[in-house]
Amino acid sequence: MEMISTTLDAIEKEKRYGAHNYSPMPVVLTSGQGVSVWDAEGKRYYDFLSAYSAVNQGHCHPKIVDAMVTQAKTITLTSRAFYNDKLGLAEEYICKYFGYDKSLFMNSGAEAVETAIKLVRKWGYKKKNLSEGTAEIAVVGGNFHGRTTGIISFSTDTSSTDGFGPMMQGYHIIPYNDAPALEKILAGNPNICGFLLEPIQGEAGVLVPDDGYLSAVQAICKKYNVKLIIDEIQTGIGRTGKRLASDYDKVKADILILGKALSGGVIPVSAVLCDDEIMLCIQPGEHGSTFGGNPIAAVVTIASLEVMEEESLTENSYQMGQIFRERMSRLKDKRPDIISAVRGKGLLNAMDIIPGEKTGTAGNVCLALMENGLLCKPTHQHTIRFSPPLVITEEQIHTCCDIIEKVILAIEVNH
Ligand SMILES: Cc1ncc(COP(=O)(O)O)c(C=O)c1O
Repeated sequence: MEMISTTLDAIEKEKRYGAHNYSPMPVVLTSGQGVSVWDAEGKRYYDFLSAYSAVNQGHCHPKIVDAMVTQAKTITLTSRAFYNDKLGLAEEYICKYFGYDKSLFMNSGAEAVETAIKLVRKWGYKKKNLSEGTAEIAVVGGNFHGRTTGIISFSTDTSSTDGFGPMMQGYHIIPYNDAPALEKILAGNPNICGFLLEPIQGEAGVLVPDDGYLSAVQAICKKYNVKLIIDEIQTGIGRTGKRLASDYDKVKADILILGKALSGGVIPVSAVLCDDEIMLCIQPGEHGSTFGGNPIAAVVTIASLEVMEEESLTENSYQMGQIFRERMSRLKDKRPDIISAVRGKGLLNAMDIIPGEKTGTAGNVCLALMENGLLCKPTHQHTIRFSPPLVITEEQIHTCCDIIEKVILAIEVNH
């Protein structure tokens, strides 16, 4: 294989031969270890995106990589036409870990969301006695659940939807963080069988709902016999300082969706968990995936969750998050002309930037951070998400806060 030697070569090739469906930061990463990544010229950066929270356990975690390599030399794929000797182990591990009867492994997050939608519809017909073709689902504005045509059918982001219609029917969009709106829609629509949401909206800009919102919607769902579907693809597996973000409200989803860090960012693995009452509504032949539940995914999942426990990464995420927000809040107090808000939980955090002549947009601030050795990406024009691997140490988090502080304080007063 031809070797790409410089940043410019790599960017040029992607631009020439790849689809233009992303606008990456102008950095070409060639290796990673823990919280660090290196570019084509050997410059080191702190990774403050963690591949959108997939690399919670740190880049190239040796235990996870070893599990993958050993399995890859043994058997990689059997398909679900046959049993393999690893899937059952992973299913047992994940069910016991999160407290559910059953699990269903897929690959990408979007596939897991689609799986959850199919499961709840099937449950609606079989257990809630809805007439065929009438099942509906409530979702919230600002959601991000993936990119399939089914999922974008209930997106409120025009860049996700424009030019991709026709959209699928059967969704009701209500405001986020508004429990009375849920009660109203469920009371008036008996065909709704599921309510799908993120416990913190990641792509919308790390929007944290009020304490008690999740427990309120759980109670409303119970009242109307509607299944609560929580998408923890970005927020789960320690990212927010708890095993699941819903743990803050002591809420257990009826259907839990996981992805990203389930594999430590090593290969695509996602899963849906629920109890028998829902999972057994789907019968052989009704849903599946060639790669879903492959033996590499199975061993990688177990290793990834074991690493979370062995290294107390959830607890670390909680503590490092406190330090990060405390330092960023002090920075906001120093520069209220640049920073309008700091928020988040654990190590899923965001800063809102006040755009100005000297500041530019959040994107310009990210470029300045990159120059100074810290990689992150704006979620929207004015918001920067900060989500480093959960293995980050206290010393490293202070060093990174120093970098952010230096960049923000260097911006001349905006007038
Ligand atoms: C909350 C949430 N759900 C679903 C997805 C889609 O996951 P994937 O990109 O693996 O399909 C994402 C990805 O960012 C996400 O953040």
